Amino acid sequence: MHSRIEKSFLTLAALIVTAGLVTPGMAQNQDREEWKGKNLQYFPEDIEREELIAHMRQFSFALGVACTHCHGTAEQTGFNLKDVDFSLDSKPTKSKAREMLRMTEQINTKLLAPIAKSPLDLPVSCFTCHSGLPLPEAIESRVLRMIESDGVEAAVADYRSVREDYHGSAAYNFREQPLVEVAASLHNQGRFEAALAICLLNLEFHHESGQTKYQLAETYFALRDTKNARPIYEKMLEARPGNRRAKTRLEEIERIEAGAENDNSGDAIE
Ligand code: HEC
Ligand code: HEC
Repeated sequence: MHSRIEKSFLTLAALIVTAGLVTPGMAQNQDREEWKGKNLQYFPEDIEREELIAHMRQFSFALGVACTHCHGTAEQTGFNLKDVDFSLDSKPTKSKAREMLRMTEQINTKLLAPIAKSPLDLPVSCFTCHSGLPLPEAIESRVLRMIESDGVEAAVADYRSVREDYHGSAAYNFREQPLVEVAASLHNQGRFEAALAICLLNLEFHHESGQTKYQLAETYFALRDTKNARPIYEKMLEARPGNRRAKTRLEEIERIEAGAENDNSGDAIE
């Protein structure tokens, strides 16, 4: 699994200070003149250290990572910044971040600029796309990808764990809609067992969701599990007596169940 939201950005701030990158208090002015980036290819060579570090902190927040996501040797990870040489280009993520800086600038200066602006005149930033993730993948894409690679059980376990880690952050949308979409997509492919697992997962977190219950009923129905489908359609009809879909399904269920009974009695006679 790729990097999770790192524990606390307070720790991050503290480490930046101890790493000697930001010197609080009086020494600041004097240091400012002495510091010079060794390997700046995007930012201006004479950028002040505080300004550069402010950008760096924004990168870390936008991607939900520690500085070592882009800096240091492969062995240097997490929040320990001891002996990290920030001027090295040893991690591919750092070079990619440079490309991303250029891309974001192009978006803002070339692509977005000619379009009539809202009163907020918002720029595109790293956060616009990444929203706290190193790789900005929507939760529904993640679940579908996991189902393909590791199966539905693993995907359900992954969803639970990611939800635990990221709940309340902007990174993933844990409301009902994304899993409704996943279940619908599996349903349309005729993968009803997988759709069922996703519906049940969604219902666990959204007990009152009408959409998920409807989806669940449809999945049970598709699996010809009329025993589980029936009470859901009945409740739907109770809540909205004009619900034609539920009515039709209940009629179909009647026919299926009657048919099954006839088959059984037929068997018994034979
Ligand atoms: C998403 C990747 C990314 C993250 C996260 C990141 N940086 Fe950077 N950092 C870069 C890139 C890219 C450059 C080079 C910019 C350039 O070429 O102008 C850079 C340059 C630097 C430099 C200048 C090095 C030199 O002398 O050339 C320092 C210092 C630095 N980062 C510190 C930090 C700190 C501290 C953090 C954590 C708060 C951090 N960075 C987080 C991508 C990152
Ligand atoms: C328009 C949307 C968008 C913006 C803006 C954007 N990114 Fe990205 N970024 C992506 C996408 C999409 C990927 C994943 C591409 C892939 O799968 O290889 C990505 C990948 C990356 C990666 C590589 C991660 C990896 O593990 O391979 C880094 C680092 C990164 N972005 C940093 C940044 C930084 C820093 C900024 C702001 C300067 C930024 N991005 C702005 C969409 C964006």
